[in-house]
Amino acid sequence: EIIGSVKGPLEGKKVVVTAGPTREHIDPVRFISNPSSGKMGIAMAKAAQSLGADVTLIHGPLSVEKPDDMHSVSITSTADLFEAVKEYSDADVIIMAAAVSDFTPAETFTHKVKKDDAGDAILLKRTQDILAWLGENKKEGQVLIGFAMETENLVENATSKLKKKNADYIIANALTEEDAGFATDTNRVLLLSKDGEQQFEGTKTDIAIEVLNTIFR
Ligand code: CTP
Ligand code: CA
Repeated sequence: EIIGSVKGPLEGKKVVVTAGPTREHIDPVRFISNPSSGKMGIAMAKAAQSLGADVTLIHGPLSVEKPDDMHSVSITSTADLFEAVKEYSDADVIIMAAAVSDFTPAETFTHKVKKDDAGDAILLKRTQDILAWLGENKKEGQVLIGFAMETENLVENATSKLKKKNADYIIANALTEEDAGFATDTNRVLLLSKDGEQQFEGTKTDIAIEVLNTIFR
């Protein structure tokens, strides 16, 4: 007798994962960015897929190979990322693992700026907080998962992001740890929700699976 295939907890669910850094161009050859590799986001995307989800990976410039068996959308700036996320904002689950730039140059030049003409300051403006926008526009039953990068007061700062952004979960990274954070293969995170907190450590791959199993089991 055929019993049927084993179904994962995310079977039939649309999951959007953002990963990697954004780049905010000053001119065609210069930009503001951060050291995000995309590893944690890709681990989350693969984990969601292995639990049965229909995954869309929206990613900035990655330092690692992206999965070739997954629908993906490539972006550069925070503004691009916001546009792409809005297009997929009806997803059942959205995981904001991208290291989104908080600032972008007030003016972007289409030609390379000559250093003698540049002056000694670059005027910046704030970018859209995409997770906060998703929190304000949350769909019925949608699950919003954000990350938090902190170098101090991890629990306090990450809890405040959970509330301020109306996220259901925040995965908090302590950047002070040697084996955790940007571009490492391992990580140590705290999963925060309104129900409390739980710690996970190990490879980013293992953490991604364990965190999603904890949330969706
Ligand atoms: N995030 C976002 N849009 C931004 C900035 C951040 O969607 N413009 C998301 C990140 O993808 C992450 C969460 O918000 O899921 C927290 O990002 P983090 O940089 O830790 O917090 P911020 O709210 O930007 O605050 P700060 O950098 O000042 O600590
Ligand atoms: Ca930030």
